[in-house]
Amino acid sequence: MTRATSKPFVCVIAGATGAIGEGIALVLLADGWQVHALGRDAGKLQALHSQTPDGLRTHLHVHVQDFEDEASMDRACQAVLATSGRVDLVIASIGGWWQGPSLAQTTLADWRKVMQSNLDAHFLCARQWWPVLLANKQSAYVMINGGAALSPVPHAGPVSIAAGAQLILKNVLAAESLNNSPRVYSVLANTPVITRKRPHGPVQWLDTQDLAKACVQCFEDTERMHNGASLVLHHKETAHAEASNLRSSLEWINYSH
Ligand SMILES: NC(=O)c1ccc[n+]([C@@H]2O[C@H](COP(=O)([O-])OP(=O)(O)OC[C@H]3O[C@@H](n4cnc5c(N)ncnc54)[C@H](OP(=O)(O)O)[C@@H]3O)[C@@H](O)[C@H]2O)c1
Repeated sequence: MTRATSKPFVCVIAGATGAIGEGIALVLLADGWQVHALGRDAGKLQALHSQTPDGLRTHLHVHVQDFEDEASMDRACQAVLATSGRVDLVIASIGGWWQGPSLAQTTLADWRKVMQSNLDAHFLCARQWWPVLLANKQSAYVMINGGAALSPVPHAGPVSIAAGAQLILKNVLAAESLNNSPRVYSVLANTPVITRKRPHGPVQWLDTQDLAKACVQCFEDTERMHNGASLVLHHKETAHAEASNLRSSLEWINYSH
């Protein structure tokens, strides 16, 4: 692997108040990254700050911002650049789970709610950080996604549809990134993920360490991780021997344009 720029690397995590976002933030901090955690809720950002080990806190910067409020987005962008001068990696871990009736019985209100958090917010996030990443030739943008993007999940139709659309959003961004800069990726977790909020689960479930590692791989491994690729994590690698009927733990789906 080739480290793309010089340390300390600077990462912006959108959705850092979520189960996966906060977990990735803590892993990257422990790996020496400077982390800018973005979220709508000041209390949840403060909680992330409090649970960060003392020695790592100076590398964590929290910013309250709401994708529906352009002024707050501009403030966050300016604060990140004033502190770190550049951004190497943006991780968008935005959106949530929804379950309900079949698609044919889903209300327009529920549909719009899911699209707002699982698709609109991704579009607004990418639009916000694109000009900042354009200024750094080695930069990368990673969207966290789930297995619902690859196979339809009955009774979670809007989530599946938004997840599928997120893959196309990534492909469009990649196709529009001239000279492969910035590079754009999806990291797909194909199992439920072990997080601080859900600390236990079957041995083959992924955890936030796996997802953080995959994001860093997208950033670093410029030889294998082609611009626009999806990195699919099927299950935890260490569980492979016990779960021999499962697919290989990891697969790249390279997008070409
Ligand atoms: N958890 C899993 O087991 C799992 C498995 C596979 C894939 N994934 C994927 O991982 C991603 C994150 O999931 P998660 O479990 O961390 O979800 P989560 O705990 O619900 O966190 C979602 C994050 O997105 C933010 N968010 C939601 N709607 C937003 C909006 N309209 N504007 C701005 N921010 C918004 C939330 O902010 P607030 O805190 O302000 O609400 C929160 O920071 C999702 O794409 C999910 O599909 C999760």
